[in-house]
Amino acid sequence: MTKCWTKAEVIHSRGGVNMLLTDEEKQMLNGDMGPAVKKAMEILVALGESFRAEKMQPIKNVHMAGSSVLVTEEAGTMFVEEMQRQGGKFVTNVTTNPTAIDPSQWREIGIDESDYELQNRLTGAYAKLGANTCNTCIPYLAGNMPRFGEHMAWGESSAVVFANSVCGARTNREGGPSALAAALTGRTPKYGFHLKENRYGKFLVKVETPLNDMTDYGTLGYFTGKIAGQDTPVFFGIPDNPTLEELKALSAALASSGAVSMFHAVGITPEAATLDEAFGGRLPEKVLVFGDKEKSAAEAALNKEPSDHVDWVLVGCPNASVQEIREVAEALQDKKVAPNVSLWVTTASSMYAMADRVGYVRVIEQAGGTVVRETCPFLARSRVIAPKKGYKTLTTNSAKMAYYAPGQFGLPTHYGNLKRVMQAAINGVWR
Ligand code: F3S
Repeated sequence: MTKCWTKAEVIHSRGGVNMLLTDEEKQMLNGDMGPAVKKAMEILVALGESFRAEKMQPIKNVHMAGSSVLVTEEAGTMFVEEMQRQGGKFVTNVTTNPTAIDPSQWREIGIDESDYELQNRLTGAYAKLGANTCNTCIPYLAGNMPRFGEHMAWGESSAVVFANSVCGARTNREGGPSALAAALTGRTPKYGFHLKENRYGKFLVKVETPLNDMTDYGTLGYFTGKIAGQDTPVFFGIPDNPTLEELKALSAALASSGAVSMFHAVGITPEAATLDEAFGGRLPEKVLVFGDKEKSAAEAALNKEPSDHVDWVLVGCPNASVQEIREVAEALQDKKVAPNVSLWVTTASSMYAMADRVGYVRVIEQAGGTVVRETCPFLARSRVIAPKKGYKTLTTNSAKMAYYAPGQFGLPTHYGNLKRVMQAAINGVWR
């Protein structure tokens, strides 16, 4: 398609900035491609002009943030249904984030029928629009792996950080409406992390303590995110060869305690072969140290529950990979989850299928645990589930979940590595 950049009609003028639209984009905005596309382009132009974007970026890849009815509720669900009824059709690859239900065992894990029904409407509307309703926050393990330099419109903060930092793809943190609009048009406003000049590091974090497992990476992310705000950190001193699971834990925690969209790890992430490259030749605005003292303080801050009481144990935030499910199964081999404890291992249906095929799911279920698909305590209605099930605490190896649980659904947390968390699940107490 020929790129013909012409001045757009001034429809949404904010701050004196008017976006330059192609002829095709002007047709979308004028309604020539139907009311759903017109509405979508109006959303994108309003968003773009508010961020002073000069033009749209063509994209082929969207990850939909507003996939749970806990986020969309009835009004948002009706909006998605309306887009579909008006003839909207996704023109990009679209994957969806976790929902508010496990479709196969929603009742058993404490989800209300009203959420089940509303969720089926929302997921059904996304499917009719053309989404791959994989319903996971690790789309990169479920068939949507971004490539280096690829422009995208992704929601789900942990996946955004992973995509920008580990894959070297380019995306802002999209909300539900802007991701939906991007999927209907194949466009996203070109600003923020789509532009190379906004992708350089702002401050340096010297890692001076061992990072032994994904929980340590999550703790580092929590510590850094609290200081970062929206700024991009550059890590120096991370071990040479972190696992995918460790990098996803770091990504998730950075995007929870902070509004981080990207990090650099020198020698590890694709745009940070050297410190100089990570900072774009500039000096860091500040230098922090993450040492033993900082690590202990961050862990203590995430351990909000003073008692040793354990009732709800969560592994799989971000959703568990097959490797993590295997580690849980190994910890439960010839053991049982304590009778007063519910163990959730949250994952994607595709991870479940693979883990089931190789026997990990059977081991976990025979030990009394539950491999939960397509939802998590954050995107299910945990303020309803917890009292229904009598949960008073949450025990987890995830810094992101430990950060959110007290405020979002009122459960104080025990936070530690997988070994400690699995011991708590088996013994029924936190040591
Ligand atoms: Fe994923 Fe839910 Fe955690 S969406 S990152 S498992 S809070």
